[in-house]
Amino acid sequence: MRYPKVNYIGNKEKIADWIASVIPEDATSFFDAFCGGCSVSYKAKSLGLQVFSNDILTVNYHIAKALIENDSQTLSEDDLRVIFGGEPAEGFMYSHFANRFYFPEECRELDRIRSNVELLNHPLKQSLTFALLRRAMIRKMPYSRFTINWEKITELRDEEISYAKYGRRRSYHNKTFRYHFEDNLDRYNEAVFSNGRSNKAYNLDIYDAIDQVDADVIYLDPPYAGTMNDYYGFYGLLDSYINGKMQQPFAHSFTDKRLIKQQLCDLFARLSKYRYWMLSYNSRSTPSREEMSELLSRFAGDITVYEMPYAYRVTGKEKKNKDTEYLFLVNTRL
Ligand SMILES: C[S@@+](CC[C@H](N)C(=O)[O-])C[C@H]1O[C@@H](n2cnc3c(N)ncnc32)[C@H](O)[C@@H]1O
Repeated sequence: MRYPKVNYIGNKEKIADWIASVIPEDATSFFDAFCGGCSVSYKAKSLGLQVFSNDILTVNYHIAKALIENDSQTLSEDDLRVIFGGEPAEGFMYSHFANRFYFPEECRELDRIRSNVELLNHPLKQSLTFALLRRAMIRKMPYSRFTINWEKITELRDEEISYAKYGRRRSYHNKTFRYHFEDNLDRYNEAVFSNGRSNKAYNLDIYDAIDQVDADVIYLDPPYAGTMNDYYGFYGLLDSYINGKMQQPFAHSFTDKRLIKQQLCDLFARLSKYRYWMLSYNSRSTPSREEMSELLSRFAGDITVYEMPYAYRVTGKEKKNKDTEYLFLVNTRL
């Protein structure tokens, strides 16, 4: 029962224990409404809570299905033969993203794998495959996100140039998808476990998700306005690949500093059915700690703020910024 290597921007893996320690003791169900790479969902599942995980990105929904909803399905040698069988093909990735994010041969390989996923005999095996494919695609992408232009990608993937300019060959970018998939396979398989509860994944906009999910606690870890928060840009390509069509920007992105207070208020106004709210935010973002407390106080009287000094690593730069991570706990019944 160990969370595998997901490498999600803005993840809470390093502070998941601290977040979990704030979950009220009388709570039995936990709704991770912006679940991302599922680090907090996974922690809550390991504590025996019934977990509901939601994210607007389909790729994150598959991570949630694979690691949270999934009790027992793992990938076998036979499944690997299915996933990597057949011949490279010219499909959606080749048509839209050759020489944009990957080389043509790599797109053909991705297209072959994508059609093979349909041949797997269980939806949870398909989700586990997407979670592993995501990991492989991210490993081959400089800076682990899809907001880098092709010129820069090819420069960083040229091992000689990379070594001469940056002192690192980054040879892992040039290993095959299959190499990275197999490299992570055991850890993903071993991460699958049952906590005796019926856990569920959703792929909805937050405003639709709150209509569908009841739980004792709703945990909100939205993009932080004013920080690196373009999740559509970072990972939309993965959704386009999985769904075979271009992913559209999110209707509610929680990224614009000018709109964020209103967006949060609109959201808080619709959360009264949840007894406890937990909300992550940090000291580099808008609104500030004081402003956030004031916004929350419009909807509930009992608010506690926890603080944790946190070294936040900006992907692609070695520089570490010291921030304070905030965790707001709201009890709407007091
Ligand atoms: C800070 S990340 C969550 C990180 C997560 N807690 C983890 O540990 O990996 C914020 C997430 O909000 C999602 N998101 C952004 N807008 C959304 C919306 N309107 N509805 C649901 N999810 C949204 C993004 O896709 C992103 O995964």
